[in-house]
Amino acid sequence: MRVLFVCLGNICRSPLAEGLFLHQLTLNGRPHRYEVDSCGTGNYHIGALPDLRTRRNAESNGVVLTHRCRQIIPEDLERFDLILPMDGNNLKNILALPNAEQHRHKITLIRTFDPKAEHSDVPDPYHGTEEDFQEVFEILNRSIAGLIRHLEGQA
Ligand code: 4NP
Repeated sequence: MRVLFVCLGNICRSPLAEGLFLHQLTLNGRPHRYEVDSCGTGNYHIGALPDLRTRRNAESNGVVLTHRCRQIIPEDLERFDLILPMDGNNLKNILALPNAEQHRHKITLIRTFDPKAEHSDVPDPYHGTEEDFQEVFEILNRSIAGLIRHLEGQA
């Protein structure tokens, strides 16, 4: 099972989602069958580590992020079984890739799995404060737990 998290820059939300998915699976202490990655629909930060604010926030919550930014490619739609954009703009950008309609059934907004979702988007924290980064952490922590319950058949 291959899971891909997608945001705009691939330096704030989606690398954190990827790190939290692996972190929570490890905490569950069960062997798992997931391959996980993240990418951005934009190309601004290719090769970069996650934003320092995202890394500091994640580390203060016990999660170390080492992902290197990459941009989505059309082949990702073939390769991955589940593609999870952070917001409606990322979803729209993914659906604009060649042959995306063929893979529409694999693509779902991540907050579909947030039991406390007040909004369908994970807000972009790039121009925000430390509190905004912590809010993103909490949203993704809940969403990833919900996603794992769903995938493991406990939803
Ligand atoms: P992300 O946040 O999509 O969560 O990685 C952003 C990071 C960088 C930019 C926008 C959003 N940017 O415009 O550079």
